[in-house]
Order: sequence, then structure tokens, then C-alpha cells
Amino acid sequence: MAQINKIAVLTSGGDAPGMNAALRAVVRKAISEELKVYGVLRGYEGLIKGDFIPMNSKSVGNIIQLGGTILKTARSERFRTAEGRKEAYENLKNHDIDALVVIGGDGTFTGARIFIEEYNFPIVGIPGTIDNDLFGTDMTIGFDTALNTVVEAVDKIRDTAASHERIFFIEVMGRDAGFIALRSGIATGAEAVLVPEVATDLEALHKQLTQYMAKKKTSSIIIVAEGDDAGGAFEIKEAMAKFGGEFDMKVTVLGHIQRGGSPTAYDRYLASRLGIASIDALLDDQRSVMIGMINREIVHVPFNKTIKHHKTIDQTMLDVVDVLNS
Ligand code: F6P
Repeated sequence: MAQINKIAVLTSGGDAPGMNAALRAVVRKAISEELKVYGVLRGYEGLIKGDFIPMNSKSVGNIIQLGGTILKTARSERFRTAEGRKEAYENLKNHDIDALVVIGGDGTFTGARIFIEEYNFPIVGIPGTIDNDLFGTDMTIGFDTALNTVVEAVDKIRDTAASHERIFFIEVMGRDAGFIALRSGIATGAEAVLVPEVATDLEALHKQLTQYMAKKKTSSIIIVAEGDDAGGAFEIKEAMAKFGGEFDMKVTVLGHIQRGGSPTAYDRYLASRLGIASIDALLDDQRSVMIGMINREIVHVPFNKTIKHHKTIDQTMLDVVDVLNS
């Protein structure tokens, strides 16, 4: 059993609402176990540069409600190199740090897994990404908040779409996954949802829009996942225009608004549970695992599983979209 007296924690990859709530739980749980805590600035880049800041309970006061991450985040090309990881390891040792908590997505866990293989250093991961694309947890931190941001935006767009009898193609984030698109599409009553996991039939979409028009349904919302195989919202709109028809079509790309905002109650709860469980895992001599929650139970999922097994969407939910629009 490795003796752990001092830990470090970092946020890495695309930021997500709730990362601060997770950081707060990691720091305060560690302190409750009489561990010393360092925050690492700007993810793995800060590990390489030695940007460590000592943290106490006050360091994470009044941040549970804040979007973003007070430790800042970055993507680190240098951590992809053996030299960069060696510098990071030396910094950890020079600060007498015994273990590391990383809050991020699959890229973060991939880097952690390689680092552990090289240095056998105790690292556990907390799933912080709006994409919800990590295998082994029902939800990732930030997903619920991003969904609510999308729903609020789409509801506003639906008002003006109805007034002007327009079709809106609304692009949402998710990288190469369709979780945000599918869940927000159902929650907003979108007339169609296009996701990377299912090949988009542009002709069928055009036929559907034509049928709507014939039934005097003169406005529609089409949610397009940014990673869709047929392209983003602009490409889909252009493809519809090529098919012809009297549609008045507009595009809105929601973009990085989905990454900000005060985390929802659920994301704060999830982040707090996972943050506490990450310290329990380290003290139980766990390493190279993501701390997830499935059916409200904490689980430990090996990094190589959560990275390799790409979580797939429930395609029957696409039928829900169709049934509720029939
Ligand atoms: O992984 C989270 C995410 O928001 C993706 O959904 C999106 O494609 C990507 O990050 C955008 O990355 P960046 O903020 O570096 O442009």
C-alpha cells in the first residue's frame, strides 16, 4: 500500500461546468484525510512547467457555482512526448507529491494511462467533459449543464422560427459523439436530430421537410451534432437547398456557450460525489481508473476501458424523436 501524504489535482482538456465543484470536493476531502494538496495550473502543461499552487479549504471557497476551472486548463502537446512526461514526473517528485487527480476527458485519461505505464505513479480520473462520451459512467460532469444551455437556446430560436415560418439547423457540440444532440433534440421537441453514430440520409430529410410543408407545418428545428457524417449545420442547409423547395432556412451554431455557465444542481452533486470518491480510491491504493457513477453507485473503470470502449448512443431514442414528431 503506497503511503499518500500529498496529492496534486489538475483540470485538462475542454473545460466543463462543474469542474470547479469537483475540484472543491477533491481538495476538501483530501484535507479531511489530512493530506496536503497542490493545484496544478493549465493541466499537463502546468505539470511540465512546475506551475503548482498549494491549496487549502479557502482556496476552493465559493466556487461550486462557477463555470470554467479556477486552475485553468490547456491541451499539452509536450505531454505527448516522453521528455515532457519525464519533466512532469521530476516536478511531482521534487514537490514530494505521492498521487494525482486529473479532471478531464478521454484525452486526459489517455495521457494519464501512458504516464502510469512509464512511472507507475498513482493517478485517478474524474470525467469532466460536456460530451458525455466516456464509457463507464452514466453522465460526465458538464453534460447536464450543457444540455440545459442548449435547451434554453433552442426554445428561443423556436419562437422566432415559428414567427417567420423558418427551418433552423442548430449545430451543437459533442466532438464525434451525439449525446448532446440526441438528448437536447428530445428535450426541445426537435423535428429531426442528426448524429455522427447514424448515417444521415439527406434525401429522406428533405422529403420529411417537404411533407411538413405540405401539412402546413411551416417551421422546424433540426439539431445537428457537429461531428455528423453529412457535415455541420451549414453543410446540411446547403444540401437541403440543392434539393430545391420553398424553404426559408437559417443556421445557428451554438458553439462555446455550451461550455460555460453555472453548473446545474445535478452537475454540482455529481462533481461532489466523484471528487470525494477520487480521494477514497487513492487511499484504497487504486490507480489508472476513472471514477464514474452508474445508477447512483460509484464505480472504478480502468482507463484503458473507458478510453477504448466508445460509449454509444441509444439509437432507439432516435425513434422517440420520430414518434413524437409524427
Ligand atoms: O470536448 C469538449 C468540446 O467542447 C467538444 O464538444 C468540442 O468539439 C471541443 O471541445 C472544442 O474544443 P476547443 O474548445 O478547443 O475548440
